[in-house]
Amino acid sequence: MTFAAAVLTLYPEMFPGPLGHSLAGRALGDGLWSLETVQIRDFATDRHRSVDDTPAGGGAGMVMRADVLARAVDDVLSRRPDAPMLAMTPRGAPLTQARVRALAAGPGVSILCGRFEGIDERLFEARPIEQVSIGDYVLSGGEMAALTLLDACIRLVPGVMGAASSGNEESFESGLLEYPQYTRPNDWEGRTIPEVLRSGDHARIGAWRQRQAETDTRLRRSDLWERYGSARVGEPSGAR
Ligand code: ADE
Repeated sequence: MTFAAAVLTLYPEMFPGPLGHSLAGRALGDGLWSLETVQIRDFATDRHRSVDDTPAGGGAGMVMRADVLARAVDDVLSRRPDAPMLAMTPRGAPLTQARVRALAAGPGVSILCGRFEGIDERLFEARPIEQVSIGDYVLSGGEMAALTLLDACIRLVPGVMGAASSGNEESFESGLLEYPQYTRPNDWEGRTIPEVLRSGDHARIGAWRQRQAETDTRLRRSDLWERYGSARVGEPSGAR
């Protein structure tokens, strides 16, 4: 079974873009995932093929029309009823590794990319669309956010990463940042690789990595650390 992605956008030429290269590009060539782009403008009905209009109540910029977007969304939902429909917007719920993993385990995803000042809110009342943000900053459109979400999903699709890793020992899967990595040369500009990593003692290495992951998470990401701590209540505090 392949992971089927559909992207609804005014800029289909932005896809697959970076996803045509490296790991994702190889997997696309191997048929492990598929990509369909849908030009939103094809669902406009007026002479000018307009997809946007001025914001009700005034203000800068343009708003994407609910009627045009609904026709595009309905077309995709009718052909792909099993894939969740997402809309990339800074107003959405923050994307998490847990959501990425759930999407990657499913049949695929359909993604609506916003442009301009936003999307007429009535679209989200009238259609089953999950609004997703990739972070607290504003992009010029949802396309780069869609590429980010797809990249995160595709690397987890079975067969894409091969035997090297299942991806689930990494950052965020444990609730912690990943431990730091090193490779040869052992001595670089007078800095050497931590001795424990060259000991061959896998129990010691595992314990060192866990401690590093915890320290780095506590110092760099107090938000993750607090959640990690509350998820572990009941365990002896000496374990933390
Ligand atoms: N579109 C514009 N900014 C965005 C963001 N931060 N996340 C998702 N979609 C967006």
